[in-house]
Amino acid sequence: MSTYTIQGGVPLTGSVNVHGAKNAALKLMAASILTEDTCVIRNVPDIKDVRTMIDVLNCLGAEADYRPDGVITIMADGGLKDRAPYELVSQMRASIIVLGPLLARLGRAHVALPGGCNIGSRQIDMHLAGLKRMGVKITTEHGYIEGVDGRLRGARIPLDFPSVGATENVLMAAALAKGTTVIENAAREPEIIELVDFLLAMGAEIRGAGSSEIVIEGVEKLRGVEHTVLPDRIEAGTLLLAGAITGGEITIAGAVAADLRLVLDKLVETGATISESPAGITIKGPKRPRSIDIATLPFPGFPTDLQPLMAAYLAKAKGTSVLTENVFENRFMYIDELNRMGADIKLDGHHAVIRGVPGLSGAPVRVPDLRAGAALIIAGLAAEGETIVYDSGHIERGYENLDEKLKDLGAHITRVE
Ligand code: UD1
Repeated sequence: MSTYTIQGGVPLTGSVNVHGAKNAALKLMAASILTEDTCVIRNVPDIKDVRTMIDVLNCLGAEADYRPDGVITIMADGGLKDRAPYELVSQMRASIIVLGPLLARLGRAHVALPGGCNIGSRQIDMHLAGLKRMGVKITTEHGYIEGVDGRLRGARIPLDFPSVGATENVLMAAALAKGTTVIENAAREPEIIELVDFLLAMGAEIRGAGSSEIVIEGVEKLRGVEHTVLPDRIEAGTLLLAGAITGGEITIAGAVAADLRLVLDKLVETGATISESPAGITIKGPKRPRSIDIATLPFPGFPTDLQPLMAAYLAKAKGTSVLTENVFENRFMYIDELNRMGADIKLDGHHAVIRGVPGLSGAPVRVPDLRAGAALIIAGLAAEGETIVYDSGHIERGYENLDEKLKDLGAHITRVE
């Protein structure tokens, strides 16, 4: 377990780079087992979730190798196996994303049910319903999903909700299916477009990525590919909010403004100054933000992953803000911790009512999940005095060297293993 100690009150200044997107890299790694050829993925962040996905792929008999320069090479030739065990899948829910590629490539899969997680029950019913429509017989016995089919068949797949994971699992399964698959109410996140670009380079036939209807014509075989992962919009948003909450002025080099449009608009509403250039995004935080209301929604709506960070920022706003969480039912676990730092936040169902206070005060806090951990860190940066953030391995799941980046921007933060 690592612990972060922060002496708050220093406005951040300077420039920092954003790393490759976790939520894209993990899916491209899974997609690499759709071919017998070698795939090379660049700009992969060195984070715990990537290490877990490497373990999953190696356990499946693929050869996945991570180089310190952020390049992953994956080769899944004849030795590919169909079993992803509970020990690995329970460490990271995103491992369920190997289900579609395994079914597509081997015609069978034996993948542990992932179970709940800290931000909600996170069902996979839509993943399974979609794959069933493609002819997969799915049974869930003894905690494992068993899918047996032979070759998948294309189908019309209407999703009840634009689930990122379900869209991705179906996309990858459909890439090698026989015939046409149409995903209706598909997720439109930039990471979906990234996965489709990767599949297109592998030789897949797909159109409509980035819209609510994606059409996939299945092909017989896919080939190896080299690809560079897009910048992580959630890490970029985290750093922007770190700059804003401290009233500092920082540049996030490599951040893509188009992927953060609503977040930037909301920051401007609070009184932050934003300037965009092809090289990145610069933010100047206000002395004290104005209160605003925000509701999380699938892309292009406000990202749920930045909701806890926004709450930390709005905790010191002038006036009352209402944050509504529409994607995950249990994403307010950090509120009691923020309140221990002097925030005044009350929960009413899926709404958090944030009465802004003039300032936060440093305190020992415990991290409930990945993005809440980042929220507590930035609250500590703005708080008066010392904050100790007790993590249990959450922050390293999704951020590469967050403490070092913040230090480069002038933050007084130390991390101890
Ligand atoms: C992905 C991201 C996560 C982000 C989320 C929403 C990764 C590794 N994670 O998670 O960081 O917060 O998108 O942008 O890419 N649901 C069901 N049944 C299903 C699938 C989903 O009920 O079969 C529900 C979930 O419980 C959740 C909501 O739909 O309440 C959204 O989930 P989804 O979009 O699938 O998120 P993930 O792919 O798990």
